[in-house]
Amino acid sequence: MREKLEQIKNEALDQLSNIESLAVLDEVRVKYLGKKGELTAVLRGMKDLSKEERPVIGQMANEVRVKIESMLEEAKESLGSALREKQLKEEVIDVTMPAKKKVLGHRHPMNVVLDEIQNIFLGMGYTIVEGPEVEQSYYNFEALNVPENHPAKDEQDTFYLGGDYLLRTQTSPVQVRTMEKSKPPIRVLAPGRVFRSDEVDATHSPVFHQIEGLVVDKNITMSDLKGALAVFAKELYGENAKVKFRPHHFPFTEPSAEMDVSCVYCEGEGCRICKNTGWIEILGCGMVHPRVLEMCGIDPNEYSGFAFGMGLERITMLKYGINDLRLFFENDMRFLDQF
Ligand code: DAH
Repeated sequence: MREKLEQIKNEALDQLSNIESLAVLDEVRVKYLGKKGELTAVLRGMKDLSKEERPVIGQMANEVRVKIESMLEEAKESLGSALREKQLKEEVIDVTMPAKKKVLGHRHPMNVVLDEIQNIFLGMGYTIVEGPEVEQSYYNFEALNVPENHPAKDEQDTFYLGGDYLLRTQTSPVQVRTMEKSKPPIRVLAPGRVFRSDEVDATHSPVFHQIEGLVVDKNITMSDLKGALAVFAKELYGENAKVKFRPHHFPFTEPSAEMDVSCVYCEGEGCRICKNTGWIEILGCGMVHPRVLEMCGIDPNEYSGFAFGMGLERITMLKYGINDLRLFFENDMRFLDQF
């Protein structure tokens, strides 16, 4: 029995001295210390020993067990740091690349939906453009037909930065910047971050995202607007999605409307999400106001256009059944890992 113990100790030490993976480590543990392990077998056999021999062998077996355990612990530690070093050496992260599922294991749900929406409009011939988040009051309000002292300005109260600068309250100023720069035909989609001095709650945030669309050409009519947005809704929510336009008011469009899509959850039957109406409002839209075209140097007698704007948070919440907007900004991995 002494020889057997000696042999177990030497063999185990031998195997643990050049170990390469945690799996092998576990094999060694099971082989010697497991229920059916070799050391366990020796301990079981002790009942056949004489009274004198039993404590001596028992102590020896105990020493061997302690030795193997501490060797296992050491091997595990050095293996761990070797693996970490290897990973660090091999890991190359290009910080200029967008987050890929492969690298981080998830993508932000709003990026997933933004990509989807962009692809739908790219397919319809739109170009993606961007505008500044720190914007001039002129582009955010006046050029969009909101006069200097108009009460509509209050509704979109924002963060004023001094001088003529503010944080844009909407992506609509990108319409103006686009029309100033380029002549029709124009077909652009402008996603971006916007700001309002709102309190944070389940459906409000002082920082959120919009996606703006603008089409300007000869003979653009309300039916072009309705056609384009109905196709968009079907592509985003499926073939059965219906749309409905309700008259509304926006200063930079005339006529203006809000578009509802048939509830994606109950398909129009009426449920909690659509507040039993069967419809969900997803965007604002309208025909570009002739005065806006004029201010941008486009002749309203020659050209017409339509525009629309939607909230990305809202659309993402509807798409995934998310009921609290704060989840988007909290960076809780338990939430983000689901996408
Ligand atoms: N800018 C509007 C808002 O923030 C949304 C909007 C409505 C944009 C109608 C548009 C539009 O382009 O035509 O409430």
